[in-house]
Amino acid sequence: MASIPLKKHDNVAGSFWSQWSLFFRQFVRHPGMIGSVIPSSAVLVDRMLDQVDWRSTRLFVEYGPGVGTFTRSILDRLPADAMLIAIDLNPDFVAWLEAHIADPRLRVVHGSAADVRRFIREAGHVEADYVLSGIPFSTLPDGVGAQICAETKAALRPGGSFLIYQYSRFVMRLLRPLFGEISDAMEWRNIPPCRMIRATREEELAQAA
Ligand SMILES: C[S@@+](CC[C@H](N)C(=O)[O-])C[C@H]1O[C@@H](n2cnc3c(N)ncnc32)[C@H](O)[C@@H]1O
Repeated sequence: MASIPLKKHDNVAGSFWSQWSLFFRQFVRHPGMIGSVIPSSAVLVDRMLDQVDWRSTRLFVEYGPGVGTFTRSILDRLPADAMLIAIDLNPDFVAWLEAHIADPRLRVVHGSAADVRRFIREAGHVEADYVLSGIPFSTLPDGVGAQICAETKAALRPGGSFLIYQYSRFVMRLLRPLFGEISDAMEWRNIPPCRMIRATREEELAQAA
């Protein structure tokens, strides 16, 4: 499996501690936007990404990459000719990702997931195969979560999936009116234990003759 090229000045051990330190400082400054004191565990990353059919993936979108806990593993699995758009509202995380991950398939965007369709268009694509989200839906300002879920459904290809890892079931009430097929499982080995939710956009019915 390919590994992510580190930028020249990057150092794996130093990078590990500075990642945790940056994540913790951002949580203290913006608890509602970050939603967690520590990054996701490797076991959660693997279980979430095991749901993806990588061979057929051309465009993968990540919301809330933070310090790249999922981003690096997505790039390890992503086909050579596919693209990853990583969208984060926090400029310090965006600067971190731009400084520490060098990969021509990665496009880091500073902005809100609510504008996902514009970011997909600007990247020269039409629709996403998968959207993965680490955004803390239960602590977002009123209406923002519902807007992100509706925009995500519109951004996915028919049959595409919205993959969400989350500490509460709050997001389910936003997904139910939009997606026909939703699954919900737990990963107990994360700190704290985490829900793994998958909402799939329905395939379009063939036009009647
Ligand atoms: C719990 S952290 C997840 C970080 C990382 N993916 C992980 O698993 O460790 C939530 C992330 O969502 C980002 N975020 C919050 N609201 C957002 C929004 N509306 N659009 C994009 N990113 C957002 C935060 O800046 C933060 O990076």
